[in-house]
Amino acid sequence: MLVFLLIVSVFHQGLAVVSYGDNFITAFPENLGFFYPSDALNRLRVTALHDNTNFKTMSVVFPKSSEVNQLGSSNLSVRITSDKNITVVSISRRANSTQSNVVQPTVNLGTNYLIPMLDYPGYLESFNLSRTVSTTMRYSSFKLLIINAVDSQNSITIVKQTSAGVQEETFNIDSYQVFQLQTNGSVLRVKSSKEVAVILTHPCVETESCNCNMIVNQILPTKFQGRSFIIPSTFNVAVTKLLMLSENTSSLFHNGTTLQATPSTLLPLSDLQKSQLVNAAEPVSLRLISPGLIVELIPETMFHACYLLQLSQANGKALVIAETDSKDDVRRNSGLLSASNWAAIAGTNYSSAVVTIPDLLATIWHPTSRIGVYVLQHISAKVMFGGPAVPISEKPDLHGCVVAPGAFEIGHDHLTWAKSREYCINKGRQFACPLTESVHNDMADNLTEGDGDGWIGLRRCLLTTDWYWQEEYDPPNFMNYVHWDDGHPLDPSKGLCTSVSLDPENDFKWQSARCCDKKKPVCYKRPAYLSLFYFWPVDINV
Ligand SMILES: *[C@@H]1O[C@H](CO)[C@@H](O)[C@H](O)[C@H]1NC(C)=O
Ligand SMILES: *[C@@H]1O[C@H](CO)[C@@H](O)[C@H](O)[C@H]1NC(C)=O
Ligand SMILES: *[C@@H]1O[C@H](CO)[C@@H](O)[C@H](O)[C@H]1NC(C)=O
Ligand SMILES: *[C@@H]1O[C@H](CO)[C@@H](O)[C@H](O)[C@H]1NC(C)=O
Ligand SMILES: *[C@@H]1O[C@H](CO)[C@@H](O)[C@H](O)[C@H]1NC(C)=O
Ligand SMILES: *[C@@H]1O[C@H](CO)[C@@H](O)[C@H](O)[C@H]1NC(C)=O
Ligand SMILES: *[C@@H]1O[C@H](CO)[C@@H](O)[C@H](O)[C@H]1NC(C)=O
Ligand SMILES: *[C@@H]1O[C@H](CO)[C@@H](O)[C@H](O)[C@H]1NC(C)=O
Ligand SMILES: *[C@@H]1O[C@H](CO)[C@@H](O)[C@H](O)[C@H]1NC(C)=O
Repeated sequence: MLVFLLIVSVFHQGLAVVSYGDNFITAFPENLGFFYPSDALNRLRVTALHDNTNFKTMSVVFPKSSEVNQLGSSNLSVRITSDKNITVVSISRRANSTQSNVVQPTVNLGTNYLIPMLDYPGYLESFNLSRTVSTTMRYSSFKLLIINAVDSQNSITIVKQTSAGVQEETFNIDSYQVFQLQTNGSVLRVKSSKEVAVILTHPCVETESCNCNMIVNQILPTKFQGRSFIIPSTFNVAVTKLLMLSENTSSLFHNGTTLQATPSTLLPLSDLQKSQLVNAAEPVSLRLISPGLIVELIPETMFHACYLLQLSQANGKALVIAETDSKDDVRRNSGLLSASNWAAIAGTNYSSAVVTIPDLLATIWHPTSRIGVYVLQHISAKVMFGGPAVPISEKPDLHGCVVAPGAFEIGHDHLTWAKSREYCINKGRQFACPLTESVHNDMADNLTEGDGDGWIGLRRCLLTTDWYWQEEYDPPNFMNYVHWDDGHPLDPSKGLCTSVSLDPENDFKWQSARCCDKKKPVCYKRPAYLSLFYFWPVDINV
């Protein structure tokens, strides 16, 4: 029993924070259409994870003049709701300026956000950029978009660090309203009475040679923090720095040195050609910042087994971080990933590789372990946009990306073994077949009946008396795992079929029994997998 509990706890260590859901709210930072009427684009890309999904978008018409540098409140939020789980990515583009952002479902939003204390002149100086593009007041600071995610008034508190000390300012915003403010790096924190989304934006941060790029970085609540991060190599982007946020000032450890981090210092990194490990003494969020790009990094505890990649142009790049021992098992869609440039990451058991994704939509997943995936696309040789791919499933599965987990269910009536199998099949299920210890543990987790026995899909062949699994989809040719009770299995004359004890006291042990005995059927509902072939995304131009 103890062993069993330990194994279960290992599986539950990671945080299941998937970026799909049935309710989303976001806003676009500036009405680029006002300045670039011919080539501007504000787009939402919605991908259904299940068949026959219906979704609705609300309030998506931007009057051309209304959003330009509109500080204060506005009602130009975009809401998306659906009857089944979907993912939403927002994309904003004009000629040389593009940004994409994974829109978080409202279940992932919070009421307390730490804000990067980025002062725009300080940011330019830190990257040794002269101010060439953004000369007007409008472009001279980062902005925060605070979006009320609930259908009622929400009290917002802005906590600022000023020369006179920490000051708070509180005001209300109405249902689903947006509040936009400029920040010179003095905003420490945004608090609210109910859930809000917070986005750090800039319409046009300087990059190189008189160009600029838009910034859209949705700030994530503290449940997304971690202590261990793999900083992805950014394949030749000129300069990259780190910005750390934590409740308490925390130290960062990188390649044997300690970096003293604050919410306003951009920390230099030594070698940008390699992915590198950074550890923190306390839970932190880390952002990778380069001219034209702000990316919130995925803590190692939040690596997932499967990611959805949504690119806005073909042949974008993905950076994949996988355990070195199983890196060759990483999959893209239904095949192997086939990356040739894996590089081991010093101080970790991980390697990372940069791969080109030919299509606009792909999955990258691992059948047995958790990985990290970023999507980054080039605007020019030194400027990129993108960020973490959309995490879909946390738990690895041999067959693909699970969008609805499988489940074990017990029938009500006592039936023979053969009738039990029929019962499961008639209900669109299959007989429970715990082929491995981890499946057995899942089954035990699902069996809450408390007492009695249930039939499972293991029996002996009448002729040879060999054991075999009655697996409907994928009959295995092996029997590696068993969980027999003491004294079992009995002699073939005393039992050709197998039952599982439904009593936790008895550790869900298996017993052999006569097939005509009557017990409750234990059925298995197979998981639902993501199938890109069926679920091509829908683009909504806003
Ligand atoms: C949004 O605000 C504008 C002006 O403030 C108002 O005219 C309009 O009716 C509002 N729209 C909605 C859907 O509330
Ligand atoms: C959507 O996903 C959540 C989280 O995984 C799950 O609890 C919920 O049942 C899913 N909803 C639907 C309609 O599939
Ligand atoms: C786009 O960038 C290139 C250089 O990277 C520059 O030559 C060109 O003028 C830019 N176009 C626009 C519309 O900004
Ligand atoms: C900053 O840029 C100037 C020219 O714009 C150059 O002379 C100087 O060496 C640069 N400094 C650093 C630290 O890169
Ligand atoms: C930012 O603005 C606040 C007032 O909102 C001011 O007290 C502070 O000195 C300013 N900081 C910088 C770096 O300009
Ligand atoms: C921050 O530090 C205080 C005092 O050192 C401690 O009580 C608190 O738990 C810390 N908070 C976090 C989130 O670590
Ligand atoms: C780590 O530091 C050593 C010297 O202490 C240096 O040779 C090495 O290149 C550094 N590695 C990275 C990835 O920065
Ligand atoms: C790498 O794996 C080995 C063996 O599994 C383990 O002992 C070691 O602690 C791991 N190293 C790191 C840095 O996680
Ligand atoms: C039940 O079984 C499913 C499918 O194997 C598994 O994902 C889940 O963790 C199990 N546990 C519970 C409590 O549902």
